[in-house]
Amino acid sequence: MSVRQAISLRGGKRLEGEIQVQGAKNSALPVLAAAVLCRTQVTLYNCPSLTDCDAAMRILTALGCGCRREGGAVTINPSVITSVEIPSGLMREMRSSVIFSGALLGREKQCRLSFPGGCEIGARPIDFHIAAFKKMGASVSDEHGCLICRADRLTGAKISLPLPSVGATENIMLAAVLAEGVTEIHNAAREPEIVDLAQFLTKCGARISGAGSGLVIIEGVSELHGCDYTIMSDRIAAATYLCCGAITRGELLLTKADYLSCQPVLSVLEQMGCSIYSFGSDSLYLNARKKLKPPPMIRTAAHPGFPTDAQPVLMALCASIPGTSIFVETIFENRYRHVSELIRLGAKINVEGRVAVVEGTERLSGAELMATDLRGGAAMITAGLIAEGVTRIGNAAYIYRGYEDIEKTLRSVGADIKPL
Ligand code: UD1
Repeated sequence: MSVRQAISLRGGKRLEGEIQVQGAKNSALPVLAAAVLCRTQVTLYNCPSLTDCDAAMRILTALGCGCRREGGAVTINPSVITSVEIPSGLMREMRSSVIFSGALLGREKQCRLSFPGGCEIGARPIDFHIAAFKKMGASVSDEHGCLICRADRLTGAKISLPLPSVGATENIMLAAVLAEGVTEIHNAAREPEIVDLAQFLTKCGARISGAGSGLVIIEGVSELHGCDYTIMSDRIAAATYLCCGAITRGELLLTKADYLSCQPVLSVLEQMGCSIYSFGSDSLYLNARKKLKPPPMIRTAAHPGFPTDAQPVLMALCASIPGTSIFVETIFENRYRHVSELIRLGAKINVEGRVAVVEGTERLSGAELMATDLRGGAAMITAGLIAEGVTRIGNAAYIYRGYEDIEKTLRSVGADIKPL
């Protein structure tokens, strides 16, 4: 993948046409890690071509797995694991690398990792993950900034998460599928990606019930085999393209979309005046040609609440709608870093702690921006689509972590956007 560092766009074009939604990054990453648990070949379809997925594939290679991509299909041969260390460079590149620790602990009963990196959207600790591994019988020590987990025997345990953490729920599931006995995860995250991971593991021979509810129960088995699996549709990419369509008062058809997982965002867009219809099991139609109004207060929350990952793109949309919109970010304490950049485009946004108040304005104008994180960068593209003149967004690498061919996709529905 070529490294493109900036994106340039000229606002003012109404988006019209069809977009095929990519496979979900936040599902592909844990499923790629889960492949470590299998004894035979795994083939994943609809695996998005993203820098984060490339990093996960490089981790798999570093662990000794054969790993190759052909289009959207990634094939992994995990029959032999030759290393239990997640390389520190890759760990720094992508916070989700921590998900490999549960899989390595499950398969090899040990792993080494440095503390994770990723988007700077808050403290993002991993204390829940570590506490759960300890409860399952692992010893966890910190040696010179390197975390070493070891277990003679990994045993099932009853784990209550202080918060429904997505990553911790996934990591515990990965450690538990090959552990001895039964693991219960109370206050588990209910995100659709947890269900996707459970479906993959079940297809490999795992015994899991309750995924998608607050109590996930995993009965350990002695071995997992590989399988062919299709990664679910990306609900955050879908939300992003819907907000891009809405901000230009356009009309879009999203194919390969998942209506149910998008529901928390769809209901907000409908309340704002967008017409949304679902066709068949996987198509979504948006018509935003009417006058839109601000949404009721948006409070981000764990699924099925409004997703924190869609907060920045919805905020960009609200910045263009006359009236007051209020956001309360409850998941990450530092998730308003895009605000200062949107203000450069003329947006009127005030942040006080976890609350952002947006006074919508009909006129935004192009400016030089810097992407601050993945979804913040997507918000800058969204706003740039209606800003008068040219908007340039630096640090575009953040955006390519989560959006496959974003310029090409938006160009295909009429946007004037290109990589620089
Ligand atoms: C995942 C998603 C990310 C999304 C987030 C919330 C992936 C790859 N990333 O991130 O896009 O924004 O869910 O939906 O799927 N926490 C702790 N201690 C822990 C773990 C989490 O205090 O050990 C806190 C976090 O600081 C945060 C909250 O729990 O405030 C939720 O975080 P979590 O659900 O774990 O997010 P991620 O799995 O990192």
